[in-house]
Amino acid sequence: MAAKRGVQQASVRGRRVLVRVDFNVPQLPNGQIADDRRIREALPTIHHLRTAGAKTILMSHLGRPGGTKEPRLTLRPVAHRLSALLGEAVPMASDCAGIEAIQATARLANGQVLLLENLRFHPGEEANDPGFAAQLAQLGEVFVEEAFGCVHRAHASTVGVPKLLPAYAGLLVQREIRELSPLRTGPERPYVAIVGGAKVADKLPFLSSFLGRADTLLIGGALSHPFLAGRGAPVGSEAVPPELEKALREFDRRSAEAGTRIVLPTDLKIETPGSTEVEVVPVSAIPAGAVGQDIGPATVAQFIEALQGSKTVFWNGPLGRTEDSRFVAGTKAVLDGLRSIPGHHIGAGGDSARAVRELEVSDAFEFLSTGGGAALEYVQGEDLPGLAVLPDA
Ligand code: 3PG
Repeated sequence: MAAKRGVQQASVRGRRVLVRVDFNVPQLPNGQIADDRRIREALPTIHHLRTAGAKTILMSHLGRPGGTKEPRLTLRPVAHRLSALLGEAVPMASDCAGIEAIQATARLANGQVLLLENLRFHPGEEANDPGFAAQLAQLGEVFVEEAFGCVHRAHASTVGVPKLLPAYAGLLVQREIRELSPLRTGPERPYVAIVGGAKVADKLPFLSSFLGRADTLLIGGALSHPFLAGRGAPVGSEAVPPELEKALREFDRRSAEAGTRIVLPTDLKIETPGSTEVEVVPVSAIPAGAVGQDIGPATVAQFIEALQGSKTVFWNGPLGRTEDSRFVAGTKAVLDGLRSIPGHHIGAGGDSARAVRELEVSDAFEFLSTGGGAALEYVQGEDLPGLAVLPDA
């Protein structure tokens, strides 16, 4: 994909600049922000606009309120965190459209920053309603796309508004394009992808996109269980629906044709319901009812071996249930191993970024994308509506 016209080229002094950010941050049950990385990653663009004398209006979604005002999904905690990070109070408009928002934007002085309330409190956002897009666009004179994590969504704020205002890519979006592009266009080989997490049915199209593109695909986490079941391993309680079984057989056939080596776990750390004990067993000997929660040491060794000599590594999704400290060892050991392997290492996805931070292995990666679904679609070579709408550089 061609580079996009950057915010550095926009003339912004004294102008209202509407910036789509991705402040969809993970929250604790009490509403506190669990990880503010997405806010911090937007700071360079916000600093740039403040220094250049713009009136900066930030708009974002949080969660999936489905077009209704859900108080627990207010962006107020984000406004507080942003204020702390900027060292100055960031006012917030209690609605992102209508008179409230118009008055709040009109009060802004040059260099000031305002945050609008959750875009998804309005049904027009996800529906990309032209009327709602026009209401948003009327708040600004220039549009900046800084929400890389949302550019795979054709919503009013990501596609509708940039059609109505002069549009530019923010610094984070430019960096994401720069860092992820080699994976999209032709990574240096050998290219190894490590994919974990859950939801095989959702991730199968994504896994398939590596066939022929990657030399080796390492599959861990719950994602690997249906593959193991397809090879006759007794992966406990998880029955594979017939349709998925068929799709997995097709996947195996295509991987053999494409010459992409698939590496699956050979041992797992299992947990048996009703017991707090965990044990490592070969995948051929999982007791009935036990659930694989992490990869075992033999798999770690096999994965690290497969990574040796690679020039490019892409990682998405933890290899075990890392939210439980008993099941972090596999992911940590593989990422520790990755540290000493030279090459271009890219990670993507919210769970991956959180695991990297908690396991203190960020130096294993040259770049961690702020995008989840957006990064996956981008490296797959998909056309992303929120990028397609931006003028090229
Ligand atoms: C993300 O978290 O991946 C982005 O913020 C997009 O959120 P969504 O999947 O709810 O559209």
